[in-house]
Amino acid sequence: MHIHKYEKYWLVFGVATLVAFLIILGIGAFHQGSHPNSNKKTIDYEKVKEIAPFTNPGVHKVEGKDWDYEVVILASAFFYNPPEIEVPLGSKVKFIATSEDVIHGFEIAGTNINMMLEPGYISEYVAEINQTGEFLIVCNEYCGTGHTLMHSMLKVVDPNESK
Ligand code: CUA
Repeated sequence: MHIHKYEKYWLVFGVATLVAFLIILGIGAFHQGSHPNSNKKTIDYEKVKEIAPFTNPGVHKVEGKDWDYEVVILASAFFYNPPEIEVPLGSKVKFIATSEDVIHGFEIAGTNINMMLEPGYISEYVAEINQTGEFLIVCNEYCGTGHTLMHSMLKVVDPNESK
């Protein structure tokens, strides 16, 4: 069988890039432990309201942890509990969220905070809050007829600013 010279080059190039990308992927996944950050913690979604911390959704100040506040969010069709979140500027906040029915989204518009909330799984994200203002929180997973109405608000207030 005769293979043209250039065809051989391309074959070698194709196989080499495939191998290179698989090696990069392998190093990332197995050596650096880079995996999708979801599905780490599970929960019985039917009893979610009886299981801490979802027994008490809202903003909670915490001591002795790597973050200052825990914001516990329970999403359901078609709203968030709590309906509004207020945290001070400069704080480190851990968002802990889940859904009690179908898949919802939790995206804080204009930031890189964006979680998928799946029934049966707890989504967590730690963020440093370094900008004051009001940030719209939207559901970005289609969840039913009320999907477009599903939103919340993050208010970041400067504690040093006189009221
Ligand atoms: Cu909840 Cu879309």
